[in-house]
Amino acid sequence: MAHSARILVASNRGPVSYTVASDGTLTSRRGGGGLVSGLSAIGPDAGALWVCAALSDGDREAVRQGRSEPGSHMIAVPPDVFHAAYNDIANSVLWFVHHMLYQTPLEPVFDEEFRGHWAAYQAYNTAFADALAEDAAEGAAVLVQDYHLALVPALLRERRPDLRIGHFSHTPWAPPDYFRLLPDDVAAELLTGILGADRAAFLTRRWADAFAACCASVLGAEVAEDGGAVTFEGRTTRLGVHGLGADAEFLRERAHRDDVAERIGTLRAEAGPGRRLIVRVDRTELSKNIVRGLLAYRRLLENHPGWRERVVHVAFAYPSRQDLALYRAYTEEVARVAGEINEEFGTRDWQPVLLKVDDDFARSLAAYRLADVALVNPIRDGMNLVAKEVPVVSDRGVALVLSREAGAFEELAEDAITVNPYDIRQTADALNTALTMPEAERAARTKRLADAATALPPSKWFLDQLDALGG
Ligand code: G6P
Repeated sequence: MAHSARILVASNRGPVSYTVASDGTLTSRRGGGGLVSGLSAIGPDAGALWVCAALSDGDREAVRQGRSEPGSHMIAVPPDVFHAAYNDIANSVLWFVHHMLYQTPLEPVFDEEFRGHWAAYQAYNTAFADALAEDAAEGAAVLVQDYHLALVPALLRERRPDLRIGHFSHTPWAPPDYFRLLPDDVAAELLTGILGADRAAFLTRRWADAFAACCASVLGAEVAEDGGAVTFEGRTTRLGVHGLGADAEFLRERAHRDDVAERIGTLRAEAGPGRRLIVRVDRTELSKNIVRGLLAYRRLLENHPGWRERVVHVAFAYPSRQDLALYRAYTEEVARVAGEINEEFGTRDWQPVLLKVDDDFARSLAAYRLADVALVNPIRDGMNLVAKEVPVVSDRGVALVLSREAGAFEELAEDAITVNPYDIRQTADALNTALTMPEAERAARTKRLADAATALPPSKWFLDQLDALGG
């Protein structure tokens, strides 16, 4: 297997996860997402390898037993190193910086403890660089994913200068003033880490420009006039933009299977016949702005009492990153505010908010098909695929309320009702406008939204990046 892979993908979360039973038996589960469908586009004979981290005890047990899926290489770093790299740096620092989530009077605090965590992040990135250097064939293409692995491109180039290396950021990129909250050496190491790639790519022009601005501000690097490249210490890294779209073919087929039809029946019955549905589907993620979404819904019921008993807010908020105390507190706050609204406005046969926290993909698709209004109001988001998926599978057309801070805004703004995600009154008004949009207009907008949302399907998104790295 050494030095044999011609196309490599590296990401923290891999395509398969394992759970281990008390008797040691392993069960595997395949995930979805853009990378999975992207990779399938190049076929099984392309010599592709997916390098990922062991995330759970089950994954580590799979590595110990030498069980790995064909085409994947799972790396098991010691659990404490993984925990510090993933939870303390990637998710508590880098994610917070790029999504601008800090409450700055008290955080972040970069002291000795942070330095320990940073050393773990370096070790975890080094483990990836070592594995990729070992697995890649001469001249292979390596596509490194996301903020977990920002140091990998430079570390890999040191080890294997023959490789063609790309880095892709699935998050927003912070503007320089915010990025510079990071200690100077850490900020510089992150940027030069990514600049180790031949090409650094982003979901929108806005995030690519922010990255270039950080390179100029922190490193004094030179940015090409058209924003398409950054030159630092004699090396040029090209910048690219690939706006990942929805996978229409997969979604339309999947959304018409029996399990989805069954859930449509259940949801309809739970919401009550004839009621309008405002739907949101998210991971319970600080950046998704679920609480302000609920506050805006409450404002709608207060300012436009005519909607009482005639509308239901279907909010699916699936558990995410529950190792982090802030995420657990946020999850509780979502449930608390939803409960308060139900308490305040609910009647004998009307529950204003239907909050579901158990992850059920078929039920999400059922909600997509039924939605009259989709609420996508993140504080900041790399893209937000829900905004793109709902119009694609909608049965009768959907009005999209969309935050101007989502990457999807760049492509969907024209046919969405757009909002400042912090402005509750504006969001409530947008919900009212969405609910009252004439059927014909809603249908016409949905068609245009679906076209824009599917302009770059995952397979093409992936192949375009490979092409851009050259042969
Ligand atoms: C975002 C990131 C991904 C990550 C996903 C789920 O979309 O860009 O890299 O995999 O969130 O987060 P998790 O921490 O559960 O992998």
